Amino acid sequence: MLPEVTATRYVTPLREGGSLPGLVEADDLGTYVMKFVGAGQGRKTLVAEVLCGRLALRLGLRVPALVRAWLDPVIGLSEPDEEVQALLKGSGGLNLGMDFLPGSLGFDPLAYQVSSEEAGRVVWFDALVGNVDRSWRNPNMLVWHGDLWLIDHGATLVFHHNWPTARAAAERPYDASDHALAPFAPRTEEAAAELAPRVTEELLSECAAEIPDEWLADEPGFAGPDAVRAAYTEVLASRARTIHERITLGEPSKDGPSQAPGWLTGKGGDAK
Ligand SMILES: Nc1ncnc2c1ncn2[C@@H]1O[C@H](COP(=O)(O)OP(=O)(O)O)[C@@H](O)[C@H]1O
Ligand SMILES: [Mg+2]
Repeated sequence: MLPEVTATRYVTPLREGGSLPGLVEADDLGTYVMKFVGAGQGRKTLVAEVLCGRLALRLGLRVPALVRAWLDPVIGLSEPDEEVQALLKGSGGLNLGMDFLPGSLGFDPLAYQVSSEEAGRVVWFDALVGNVDRSWRNPNMLVWHGDLWLIDHGATLVFHHNWPTARAAAERPYDASDHALAPFAPRTEEAAAELAPRVTEELLSECAAEIPDEWLADEPGFAGPDAVRAAYTEVLASRARTIHERITLGEPSKDGPSQAPGWLTGKGGDAK
C-alpha cells in the first residue's frame, strides 16, 4: 500500500493546470502536491495518477513518490479563495499526495535537451496510457536536479470513462505530433523493445493494487474493486504489446513549436 500521511497545513493552490491541486504540509514533515478527490473529474483522475505513477516508477521513469493523503477540510478554513474553500470542503477524507519537488522548473524545450532514448521512453509510455496532456502547450514535466520528471497523469486511461468499449480502446492509435518531446527524435521502437516486455499482467496488477479501494468502489458493471483492477490490467497489457506500431509523429499543429530552431527540431537550419 502507498504510504499514508495526514495533511496538517494548506499552504497554497497551484494554479497552472485546471484541477487546482494544493500544496500541503503533512504530519510526516513532508510537503506534497495534493490532488483532491472533490475536483472536477473526481476520483478517476486520481486512479489514473496512481496507476500511471506506479507503472512509470516500475519502468524506471522519474515520477514524484505518491502517498495516500488524508484531509480534514478545517485546515483550509482561513483560505480566502472561495473556489479553494469549496474544493477542500468536497474533499474530506482520502486524497492523493505527490512528493513536492522544491525548486523544480517547468520543462522548456529551448533550455533543456532530452536524449532521443529518453524521449522515446516517455513518448512510448504516454502512448501506452493514452496521455493527451504532455503537449508543447502544457508539457507536464519538470526539471529537477538536472533530470526530467514526469507529473500530472490525470488525463490518461480515458478508456475508463466508457468501460463497455475499453477493450477496443486498447487498439487506439496515439498521435504524438504535439508531444512536448516530439522535437527530440524519440526512439519509440527502441523504447518499446526495452519496456513492453516488462509490462506484464503481473507488474500491472501490482501497480493496480496500489489504487485505493475507495476510488474503485461502485463502478457500474463490476463486482468490486478487484474486478476494476483486472480490467485496467487487461487493457494495458494488451496495449503494451503493439502500441509502438500505432504511434504517429507528424508535423506539430499550427502554432506549435515550429519557431524552435532547426538544431533543436532536427529539421535542418543553422545553429543560431
Ligand atoms: N510534484 C511536484 N513538484 C513541484 N511542482 C509540482 C508538482 N506537481 C505539480 N507541480 C506544479 O503544479 C502545477 C499543476 O500541477 P498538475 O499536476 O499539472 O495539475 P493540473 O494541471 O491538473 O492543475 C504543475 O504545472 C507544476 O508547476
Ligand atoms: Mg498539469
